[in-house]
Amino acid sequence: AAIPSQPAAEEYRDIVAALPSRLHGTPQRMRLYQGTWFREDWVLGFIAIQRHFVPREDGSDVVLASLPKCGTTWLKALVFATAARAHPLLRLNPHDCIPFMEAVYFAGDEARLDAAPSPRLMSTHASFTVLPASITENPGCKIIYICRQPKDMLISFWHFINRSKSNAMSFSDVWESIPKGTYFGSPIWEHILEYWKASQEKPDKVLFLKYEEILRDPVKNVEKIAEFIGQPFSDVEKEAGIVESIIDLCSFQSLKASGANNAGFRRVVNVEVPNESFFRKGTVGDWVNYVTPEMAENLDNFLADKFRGSGFSF
Ligand code: A3P
Repeated sequence: AAIPSQPAAEEYRDIVAALPSRLHGTPQRMRLYQGTWFREDWVLGFIAIQRHFVPREDGSDVVLASLPKCGTTWLKALVFATAARAHPLLRLNPHDCIPFMEAVYFAGDEARLDAAPSPRLMSTHASFTVLPASITENPGCKIIYICRQPKDMLISFWHFINRSKSNAMSFSDVWESIPKGTYFGSPIWEHILEYWKASQEKPDKVLFLKYEEILRDPVKNVEKIAEFIGQPFSDVEKEAGIVESIIDLCSFQSLKASGANNAGFRRVVNVEVPNESFFRKGTVGDWVNYVTPEMAENLDNFLADKFRGSGFSF
């Protein structure tokens, strides 16, 4: 497919067209940009972020980062509700509350971020190395990363990508995308390890969360988010049950049922997806219903090898 005609696309078309490329099962090509494989339309957004991102002067930027299908939407809801201590999530989709930077920059729509109130909340699927120094080296800009068990991530992705006919992928293309390096953000172990190492070195700068841990102990994780963004819950708020009400508001059932999420479509960079496709099942371990124990073990072993010696484990 041709690189789409958008403001950012026009400016960076030649750069992206010259990058190493790879097919991954949809008409859109993957490109290798600064060590990370991504769909080429996303890469255009990454380049625009690198060239045009202007940090907020009051040092209140918060960037949520993730690989696709690791709980980005849920994290957006939790961080937005925690920062706002309010409930506009019943009327807004979490992606409206916290936009993808690559989508904003892809569309040349930076004024939207300039107009956002502080703390300014944004998200990205870019790897740590692809993010500009104005984010990674800037003490005023915090990063919250969410990771998820890769087998569940893949099953979630397979359902998601097949909601859009023009992007359909076979199950085997999706299941093999981690070792083949065709999952968005590949190599995924590097995507995860870069953020994880940054969180170990600078815990005040990068908060590293796990989808499964948030499900297991949401109170602890939401309190962690609040402290990290400099808005800890007071004892009065805790006694009033504010933390629990944020968790309930952002629960899978609550978000899935909301009118902002169960109808309509949205454009994410260059793909149109139904809003409801961000809320499928919201559980841990759904992969058992799709692959054999042997397939699971092969992937586990492959990844264990990649993470060996790093100190990180799922
Ligand atoms: P499943 O497809 O396994 O259900 P992302 O937001 O990064 O695209 O990730 C989507 C995944 O997060 C989907 O996983 C989706 O159902 C799940 N999800 C969305 N909202 C959630 C919530 N409030 N609680 C738990 N999981 C949620």
